[in-house]
Amino acid sequence: MSPEGFKAALAGCYAGLTSGAQTEALPAGARVYEGKVRDVAFYGDRAVLVASDRISAFDRVLSTVPWKGEVLARISAWWFDQTADIVPNHLVPPSELGGYDPVRSSGRCVVARKLKMLPAELVVRGYLSGSAWRDYQAGRPVSGLRLPSGLRCNERFPSPVVTPSTKEASGHDRPCSGAELVASGAVDADTWRELERAALALFARGQELAARRGLILVDTKYEFGVSNGRLCLGDEIHTPDSSRYWFAEGYERRFDDGVEQRELDKEAFRRWLLARGFKGDGEPPAIPDEVRIETAMRYVQAYEAIIGEEFMPVCQDAQAAERAAAYCLTEAFKAR
Ligand SMILES: Nc1ncnc2c1ncn2[C@@H]1O[C@H](COP(=O)(O)OP(=O)(O)O)[C@@H](O)[C@H]1O
Ligand SMILES: [Mg+2]
Repeated sequence: MSPEGFKAALAGCYAGLTSGAQTEALPAGARVYEGKVRDVAFYGDRAVLVASDRISAFDRVLSTVPWKGEVLARISAWWFDQTADIVPNHLVPPSELGGYDPVRSSGRCVVARKLKMLPAELVVRGYLSGSAWRDYQAGRPVSGLRLPSGLRCNERFPSPVVTPSTKEASGHDRPCSGAELVASGAVDADTWRELERAALALFARGQELAARRGLILVDTKYEFGVSNGRLCLGDEIHTPDSSRYWFAEGYERRFDDGVEQRELDKEAFRRWLLARGFKGDGEPPAIPDEVRIETAMRYVQAYEAIIGEEFMPVCQDAQAAERAAAYCLTEAFKAR
């Protein structure tokens, strides 16, 4: 995709489920949740997650980025496929949808089993980076973990650690320990053990497959829920929005030299904002088209690096995405 291609796509960004005629495809009684990035339609025992092109940083929606929703939904679908043997996930297979394959057909819609989401997110970290590094550097425990002293920024842990955080209804999520989650009654002790096991196994698979593509899966976040009394992986998996990836090449040298790693994620967008003094509070800066294009190119690059295939959008513009979403809603919810 050329820079001109991205520029032309700016006008066709998909703003989300509630922004157009596609809502007519919702059955009476369906409920729509508007997330920061995705919109979720609930009806009966199903949920349709529609990835928009909205981009958020510091928990605020700031702009749109061409094809971002497709990139994320398709990366996630690929990883669900690669990890389905480890833990059940929320995807409703095409065999239960009369052969219809939502992601293949729409690029950005997922038909899922509606889960009762657990009130905690499981962050798994292979390296001391990001907010964990900031906590560590400030002498604070990292999600209740006391790490040995003398660790350096971006240092690899002897083995990955699970650092949960609570899911707050509003505002920022809060890091906490597994023991705290159990003590607060958010999850019982057996469930917590099972969650930890599943998260570490998913992360190990993620690291292994990323390594084959010359990438390091640095850290990531999982959201689990319950369906028919069974634990089930929900939300998204190993996307650039939920994960940090580095290029493996040069990791050691950069680590020894104490310089930043080469990243494959939206950290660049956050840094652009930080450089303008925006940390999530107050009036955000206007996002120029160049930054939206640059960000889109990074997302597409991420897709191509992770999956190893050239990215070709399924839907070229917002109108096509709306039609595809309307079709998906109809297929997902008919006869429920
Ligand atoms: N299978 C599922 N059933 C019910 N809710 C889900 C399922 N998968 C994901 N979710 C929820 O859908 C929402 C996805 O939208 P997102 O843009 O990530 O919103 P948020 O701003 O809440 O993070 C999240 O609240 C997530 O917990
Ligand atoms: Mg989310």
